[in-house]
Amino acid sequence: PAVGREVPHEAAALHVTGAALYTDDLITRTPGVLHAWPVNAPHAHALVTALDVSPALDVPGVVRVLTADDVPGINDAGIKHDEPLFPTEVMFHGHAVAWVLGETLEAARQGAEAVAVDYEPLPSVLTLTEAIGAGSFQGARRTVSRGDADAGLARAHRRFRGVFEFGGQEHFYLETMCSLALVDEGGQVFVQSSTQHPSETQEIVAHVLGVPSHAVTVQCLRMGGGFGGKEMQPHGLAAVAALGATLTGRPVRLRLNRTQDMTMTGKRHPFHAEWEIGFDERHRITGLRATLTSDGGWSLDLSEPVLARALCHIDNAYWIPDIEVHGRIAKTHKTSQTAFRGFGGPQGMIVIEDILGRCAPQLGISAEELRRSNLYAPGQATPYGQPVRHAERLTAIWSELQQRAGYLDRVAAVEAFNAAHEDTKRGLAITPVKFGISFNLTAFNQAGALVHVYKDGSVLINHGGTEMGQGLHTKMLQVAATALGVPMSTVRLAPTRTDKVPNTSATAASSGADLNGGAIKNACEQITERLADVAARMINCHPADVRFVDGVVTGIGFADRQLTFAEVVGAAYHQRVQLWAAGFYRTEGLHWDAERMQGEPFKYFAYGAALSEVEVDGWTGAYRLRRTDIVHDVGDSLSPLIDVGQIEGGFVQGTGWLTLEELRWDTTDGPNRGRLSTQAASTYKLPSFSEMPEEFHVHLFERATESGVVYGSKAVGEPPLMLAFSVREALRQAVAAFGPGGIEVDLGSPATPEAVFWAVEAARRGR
Ligand code: MTE
Ligand code: MOS
Repeated sequence: PAVGREVPHEAAALHVTGAALYTDDLITRTPGVLHAWPVNAPHAHALVTALDVSPALDVPGVVRVLTADDVPGINDAGIKHDEPLFPTEVMFHGHAVAWVLGETLEAARQGAEAVAVDYEPLPSVLTLTEAIGAGSFQGARRTVSRGDADAGLARAHRRFRGVFEFGGQEHFYLETMCSLALVDEGGQVFVQSSTQHPSETQEIVAHVLGVPSHAVTVQCLRMGGGFGGKEMQPHGLAAVAALGATLTGRPVRLRLNRTQDMTMTGKRHPFHAEWEIGFDERHRITGLRATLTSDGGWSLDLSEPVLARALCHIDNAYWIPDIEVHGRIAKTHKTSQTAFRGFGGPQGMIVIEDILGRCAPQLGISAEELRRSNLYAPGQATPYGQPVRHAERLTAIWSELQQRAGYLDRVAAVEAFNAAHEDTKRGLAITPVKFGISFNLTAFNQAGALVHVYKDGSVLINHGGTEMGQGLHTKMLQVAATALGVPMSTVRLAPTRTDKVPNTSATAASSGADLNGGAIKNACEQITERLADVAARMINCHPADVRFVDGVVTGIGFADRQLTFAEVVGAAYHQRVQLWAAGFYRTEGLHWDAERMQGEPFKYFAYGAALSEVEVDGWTGAYRLRRTDIVHDVGDSLSPLIDVGQIEGGFVQGTGWLTLEELRWDTTDGPNRGRLSTQAASTYKLPSFSEMPEEFHVHLFERATESGVVYGSKAVGEPPLMLAFSVREALRQAVAAFGPGGIEVDLGSPATPEAVFWAVEAARRGR
C-alpha cells in the first residue's frame, strides 16, 4: 500500500525547479493589482492624536489610504477582540496605524511616508522583568498541580531553587506573510492567503468587512513555511487586503518584506521561570514549585493556549509526584507573541531540563543518570491527570539510543579528550522528549474532507489541512490511495479552500495528518463501501469479500475475476451510485477542564530521545556540533522520508532557538526604545549548513503501532524540535569540563558563543 512507503514530498520537484506557486506568484496572473504598504508607528507606546492622509493622496500612483474610518464591520484582527486592526493607541514599535494602496509598491511606500501622523508618546514596558515589576499582565492565570508541592519539597533530601529567563524565536519562514484579495460578482471576496488557518482567516475577514462567512472564500495554495507563525497572524493582513479590494474594486496584494515581517509579526514567547525543586536520597524528584511568566507582547493572540501547553509540559518525561506550577502572561510593548513549533511545550520542557542540568553536578551524579532515573514508569500519570500510556517506550528509546550511538565508549572518549586538552572541551548529553498530541481545546480536534472519484477512476481529494512544507499533502495522498486501493498516481490533491471544507481547525498542534487523514479515510471508506456492492454483483461474490488494492478490484476466492478500479467506477456511475463523499473525523476519548487544568487533553504522547556531542573553544566560546543521534517514535510511519525530514528539520530549528537565534529589542530610553534591533538575517543568526551536526543519525523507533490513529501513525511535526535540548545540555557539560567539577553551570538561552564564553569564564573561576 501507499501508506508507509518512502515517497518524496509531493511537490519536491516543483519546489526545486521554482514551478511551485506561492501566494505572491499569483500577482503576475492578476491584472490591475494594487500594492499595500503600512504606515508604521515609530514608538513603542503612544496615542495617535491626528492622522492626515491627504499628503499621501498627492503622491503619484497612490490610490487610497485605509484607516479605521473605512472599516464597515469590526475593527479588530483577533479572536479575543484586543487587537484593533487600525489602532488609535500604538502598542509596539512598528505597529501599522494605516495602510496605503498604490499602483506600484514604490508608490505605496512613498505614500506611507507622506501620511502625517501625530503621536503622543506614552511610557512603555519592554522586558519581562519590567512587566513583572510593574504588574503588567493579561489574560487568565493558570495553575497545574497535583498533591502537595510544599510537602514534596519538605520531604526532600536536597533542595535547589533558581531563576531562568530565556529568549523567543523568529519564525523566519522563507515566504513572508502574503495575501491577495479579489472581489467577485456581488461583492463576494476571494482571498488567497499564506495561512495555516484558512477558516479563521475567513472569519476575521468577514467580521472586518461586516459580511457573513459565506461571502468570503479563503484559499491557501501552500506556504513557504509557517511554523506556527501563520496560525493567527495572517488574519488581519488578509483583512486589510480584502478591505482594500472591496473599497477600490481592484485586487490588492499585501506582502510584508522581511524587515516588516520581523518587526510587525509575533514570535515564540520568551519566558521567565522561578523554581524550587527537591530530590530524595536516590535522586528522585520529590516536589516542584514554579512560576512561569511568558512575554505575550501587546495582545493575547494565542498566549493563553501557549501557556497552557507550557504548563502541561513542564514535566517533560519525568515523574514529579508533588507539583504546583503557576502560569501568567506579561503584557509588554512588543509584537504579539504567538504559536511557534511546540506551542509553549518547548518553553515548559526547557525549564525542567535546565533544572536537571544544573542540579546533577550538585547532587554528585551524571546528568544522564539523573534524567534516566526520573523517567516516567508505566502506570504513572502527568500532573494534569493523564495516564502516560506507553511510558515504557521512554526507557526503551533511551537504551536503544545509547546502544546505537555507542554511549559508554563515547563518554570515555570525551573524558580522555578533555583530560588531554586544556582549552578545548567536549560535552555529551542525552535528553528525552514526551509531547502530547491533540489540541488542548477538545473542540478543535475535528476535521473534514471531500473526495471525488471521477468516471474515469481518477480521484481528487480536498481536506481542511494546509501544506507548509511539512508533507501533509504527501501523507494525505498516501492515505487516500491506500483507503481507495488505487495507485498514488491516480490521486490528485487540490488546494485548501474554505468553500470546499468548512469550519476547519488550524493546521497545527502536529495533528494535521491525524485529523485530516481520519477524515479522508472516512470519505474513502464511504466510497469503497458503495463500490463494493457494485463490484460484488460484477464478480458474483459477497460485498464484504471485495478487495481494492492498487487499482485492482477482486473478490476473495474469485482470483480469476479481476476488475480494474475504473471499470467498477464506470459501472457504478451507470447505476447512479454516488461517487464522491464528504468525510469527517473527530478524536475520541478526549476531555479537558481548562480552568482546573485537569483531564486527558491528548490522544497520545510522541516520544523520542537525542544524544549530542559538542566541542567548545574556551577562548571564544565558539562550538561545533560534532554528532547527533536520535531515536524517535512516529508510530507506524505514514511516510518515512517525510518523517525523517521533519525530525531533522525540527531538531535543527530547535538547535537554532537554543544556541543561535537571539532577538534583541532596543531597551534604551530614546527614540529607538522598543525597536527590534535584530530585524534581518544579517543580525538574526539562523542555523545553516555549518550548524548541522557533522554526523547525524535519525532512527525511527520500530514496532510502534499506535492504536486509534490513522494507519497506526503518530504525529511528527513538533516533537522533534525539543530533541535539541541535547545540544544545550551537551554545551553545559563541555562548559563544566573547564571547571573544577561538581559545580552548577548556569547557561543562558540562547547559548550563543557569547553566552558560552561567559559560562566558561565562570566555570574556570570555579563559578
Ligand atoms: N515543517 C515545515 N517544513 N514547515 C513548517 O512550517 N510547521 C511545523 C511542523 N513542521 C512546519 C513544519 C508546525 S509548527 C506544525 S504544528 C506542524 O508542522 C503542522 O503540520 P502537521 O500537523 O501536518 O504536522
Ligand atoms: Mo504549530 S506551532 O502548532 O503551528
